[in-house]
Amino acid sequence: MERRAATGPGSREAIAGLERKGAVGGGMDQGEGDLSFPEGFLFGAATAAFQIEGASEADGKGPSIWDAFTRRAGSVRTGENGDIACDHYHRYREDVSLMAELGLDAYRGSIAWPRIYPEGRGRVNPAGLDFYSRLTDALLAAGIEPFFTLFHWDLPQRLQRELGGFRSRETAALFADYVETVVRALGDRVRRWITINEPWEFAFFGHVLGEQAPGVRNPLAYLPVIHNLLLAHGLALERIRALRPKSEVGVALSYTPIFPATESARDAWSAAVGNAFMNHISLKPLLKGRYPELIARRLRLFFPRMERGDLELISRPLDFVGINYYSRERASYRWYVPFLRSWITGRDSAEGVERTAMGWEVWPEGFGHILSVLRKDYGNPPVYITENGAAFVDSLVGDRVHDPRRVSFLARYLAALRRSMEEGSDVRGYFLWSLMDNFEWSYGTEKRFGIVYVDYPSQRRIIKDSGLWYRDLIRRSRGGRAHAGG
Ligand code: FCB
Repeated sequence: MERRAATGPGSREAIAGLERKGAVGGGMDQGEGDLSFPEGFLFGAATAAFQIEGASEADGKGPSIWDAFTRRAGSVRTGENGDIACDHYHRYREDVSLMAELGLDAYRGSIAWPRIYPEGRGRVNPAGLDFYSRLTDALLAAGIEPFFTLFHWDLPQRLQRELGGFRSRETAALFADYVETVVRALGDRVRRWITINEPWEFAFFGHVLGEQAPGVRNPLAYLPVIHNLLLAHGLALERIRALRPKSEVGVALSYTPIFPATESARDAWSAAVGNAFMNHISLKPLLKGRYPELIARRLRLFFPRMERGDLELISRPLDFVGINYYSRERASYRWYVPFLRSWITGRDSAEGVERTAMGWEVWPEGFGHILSVLRKDYGNPPVYITENGAAFVDSLVGDRVHDPRRVSFLARYLAALRRSMEEGSDVRGYFLWSLMDNFEWSYGTEKRFGIVYVDYPSQRRIIKDSGLWYRDLIRRSRGGRAHAGG
């Protein structure tokens, strides 16, 4: 549960040490394997509104919980806020040109609810809709298909203050109204929608640990927030289908496989609890219409009041499941962890484990693991990988950013993904996290996930070596076929 470790084997110092020793980079076997993807497979890149847009008060935008949270002392390690971020709001044309240069088929961005409804409900702000309409047109003109996420964590602050945000069912209903407004404005041009991003992270980091917005520390909020987010998804899906029956709707869920720390039966049990708590907590209600038994039993006192039909609404058929995959973690039995008795960490003592700058273990095989679970336990749904990528310590040298570790990471993860497709998974596309370096939540701009480097003082964008590598991979995979949009 410490996905965001800053120190230890993955720290800046440790990686710099590895690089000095020549243990990583250029000469390293990239383990590519088969990287030719079938025709029609979409190659994309992803971002989220708060992480790139900046312009936090422009053209009538209201404050989000992230604007409020980042203003609290100590909430972001670097002391930054998202007022400027990558200034994408003003530079979106340049950013779309970069996407075209990379040859992307698709782009996963998100829409900021408080740009559309500055107070979360009531009055619509036409300038907000206009921004996303111009962005959509620019993408389509460049032959890039937009996949918009409708909620990537930047809830209007007013709803947090007045309703307690997603602790309240009312927020789910208001989300559906906002989605309807967006789909009315963009649904003639946007066909694929992602309702919500990572309910688990939002609920746990935002409401239990308080390390992310809204910064609440209350374990009792965990299940209500998850349930109301899933409800929001179900209500939004209904609205989108009613307005635009031909659109495709999915969600983006993190999946962090949890393994037992030792061979003991107790740790195996803890890993099962961990998987239920972090992964199946949203997958199961969405795809099977019920909460995982282990959680339903252990945390039964903490479920919010459910209404008849909730689970039915949540489990309406999806057009695709979006999976955000980065790393795995380990679980040990700990009697003192309340209710769960399970301690989950991505930082274990194992030496020699390759880690990213987040401290996350590099484990490409995770794709095979997750996709086999989806095949065996969830009926092999159509999947988009909605996020995958890595933060490493990058530096601009002249006009280049050499990031061989990211190239190696991507090559191995994509090869593993390709293998699971051979095994029968229906994977339709891959969105690399991230198009460009951006505001990595409570880490600020210090952690760089981009394949495009952002020089924040000048806002100059420089395609990293990994970006050039991705561009070539896309070209090769098309085998000379023209870009879909020309
Ligand atoms: C995911 C978030 C995304 C980004 C990556 C690194 O949890 O959805 O916004 O921060 O992690």
